[in-house]
Amino acid sequence: MENRVTKAVFPVAGLGTRFLPATKASPKEMLPVVDKPLIQYAVEEAMAAGITEMIFVTGRSKRAIEDHFDKAFELEVELEAKNKQALLDVVRSIKPANVECFYVRQPEALGLGHAVLCAAKLVGDTPFAVMLADDLIDGNPPVMKQMVDTFNHYNCSVLGVEEITPEQSRSYGVIDGREWDADVIKVSGIIEKPAPEDAPSNLGVVGRYILTPRIFEHLRDLKPGAGGELQLTDAIQSLLGQEQVLAYRYQGRRYDCGSKLGYLKATVEFALKHPEVGTEFSAYLESREHLTGIGS
Ligand code: G1P
Repeated sequence: MENRVTKAVFPVAGLGTRFLPATKASPKEMLPVVDKPLIQYAVEEAMAAGITEMIFVTGRSKRAIEDHFDKAFELEVELEAKNKQALLDVVRSIKPANVECFYVRQPEALGLGHAVLCAAKLVGDTPFAVMLADDLIDGNPPVMKQMVDTFNHYNCSVLGVEEITPEQSRSYGVIDGREWDADVIKVSGIIEKPAPEDAPSNLGVVGRYILTPRIFEHLRDLKPGAGGELQLTDAIQSLLGQEQVLAYRYQGRRYDCGSKLGYLKATVEFALKHPEVGTEFSAYLESREHLTGIGS
């Protein structure tokens, strides 16, 4: 087994029903936060971790994702003709030359575990990342880089986790385990979307994983779990019988862009930091507070 993490799997076949009608004909992963689609934030995070092979598990109506990471020949010709170098750089930097993109279809929405299994052939016998673009995480260094460093140190699967409230347990995979090192927990169990009274801890798994290729053996044997879906969480629970799995409490702020409220929060925070509009947007928010009396 090659031991460097150079591949990331992006499950992007989901229907995005929570954002209808915006997601009727275009993928939820293409929703922009200010001026960049969610999937590009995730790919940039992967690149910052040294990952160079991006594997997208797609479905119907997801062509925009392939187009986004492909060369836009006509657009480039047009920008060149108009001498718009800065925009040309923006467009060309979406996929640097050393990065390769691969696409595989998930024919049916059978769950996250099934989506990851669809990438098995493209991943092969190497450790790999799984990244859910819905979870937009602002981290410095970027969270996947923190996780790859953790993987390189301990050489076993690593799950990104954060503290959740009891009411949130039904939305996450929740781990059981004991503190092992600073921000590192040795996982002894993991359960998908438990009721608060069944949650083994207050640590929920977010959409960042580094998994060893042995996970595929467990994904192949999966039976439908929570919600009748083939759950990645259940395969990880089964992997625990064979290998050590660690959870890593990452440094960073996560926005759940699978929900409207999380998406709006991300939009506000990223707009405030944006070099082009940040200052004016901040002034606008202040004037708005003044007008409506919010914050007074
Ligand atoms: C998935 C996983 C869950 C994890 C979550 C993180 O759930 O099944 O274990 O905690 O992502 O975002 P989903 O949000 O797709 O329902």
